[in-house]
Amino acid sequence: MKILIAGASGFIGSALNQSLAHAGHTIYTLGRQPSGTARHFCWQPREGKIELDTTLHFDAVINLAGENIASRWTAARKDEILQSRVAATQVLCQYLCELERAPEVLINGSAMGYYGDTGDVVVNEQSALGQGFLAEVAQHWEAAARPAQERGIRTVFLRTGLVIHPSGGALAKMLLPFSLGLGGKMGNGQHFMSWISLADALRAIDFVIQHLSLSGPVNLVAPHPVRNIEFTRALATAVRRPAMLPMPAKLARCIFGEMADEALLASIRVDPQVLLQAGFKFNDDDLLAYLQRCLRKQE
Ligand SMILES: NC(=O)c1ccc[n+]([C@@H]2O[C@H](COP(=O)([O-])OP(=O)(O)OC[C@H]3O[C@@H](n4cnc5c(N)ncnc54)[C@H](OP(=O)(O)O)[C@@H]3O)[C@@H](O)[C@H]2O)c1
Repeated sequence: MKILIAGASGFIGSALNQSLAHAGHTIYTLGRQPSGTARHFCWQPREGKIELDTTLHFDAVINLAGENIASRWTAARKDEILQSRVAATQVLCQYLCELERAPEVLINGSAMGYYGDTGDVVVNEQSALGQGFLAEVAQHWEAAARPAQERGIRTVFLRTGLVIHPSGGALAKMLLPFSLGLGGKMGNGQHFMSWISLADALRAIDFVIQHLSLSGPVNLVAPHPVRNIEFTRALATAVRRPAMLPMPAKLARCIFGEMADEALLASIRVDPQVLLQAGFKFNDDDLLAYLQRCLRKQE
């Protein structure tokens, strides 16, 4: 297959590029900077610019582009987080709608933040939109892909949870403090974290490409979300250090502002119902075993 990936330079996109290429697909990438490699195209979504021409054909398009959310949220930063995703999706969908031959599928990024803070309640793809900034971002991000749906392109919204691998995302940020014995639970540690191993996330995206019946929201999370205290213990065990330094909620808010409440302290307990019902098999559903395995490989 010919597959276009937007946001292919990021943590998930670069691993996806490699794994899909390894599986024999021809990968094209779309990014804001020239890459010096063949099959790379440039775009500037905020300016509405895209270098692709309408005679190209892709079987699948995967859009993961957007400003990273892991920073202190100022009003300007929140605007970048939201607008980068909406603009990228709009520009891409406009291009897809003008193509002589549309792709079979558009897999558009979204996030489990769609559901807001769910406490101990388990949510699935049918659950309602939640409250808060990340829910608003996911809502607008998904809505921006509507023109592709209207054009008749099978469109999937990947409501992604915490993608776990030492090469990036949340785990890469936690590794240094935990390896120094300076890790600990966040707040009271009772909030749920819906996670997925990077390898399962990549396999699930490939599965979504191949399964023509899948469209609409798909939760990209493993079947067993864990409480933050369990995550903390599992990571401490995997790095063989104590986790004695809890981060009180007040301190987290002081350092990270609003981001602390929505991304670090919110409880999001998500069930991957669509993937499970479609027959996807997760390889990594035990967090401790997965952390031990992937961190051992790093040594
Ligand atoms: N990692 C996770 O645990 C996780 C969880 C939930 C949701 N997600 C979502 O999944 C997507 C991929 O995650 P990731 O961890 O791979 O993110 P990442 O490492 O931050 O990469 C995001 C990519 O988006 C592009 N990008 C950044 N700012 C942009 C802008 N202003 N306009 C257009 N493109 C921009 C960048 O590509 P170029 O610089 O090459 O243009 C970058 O490669 C993100 O949208 C993220 O919100 C990730």
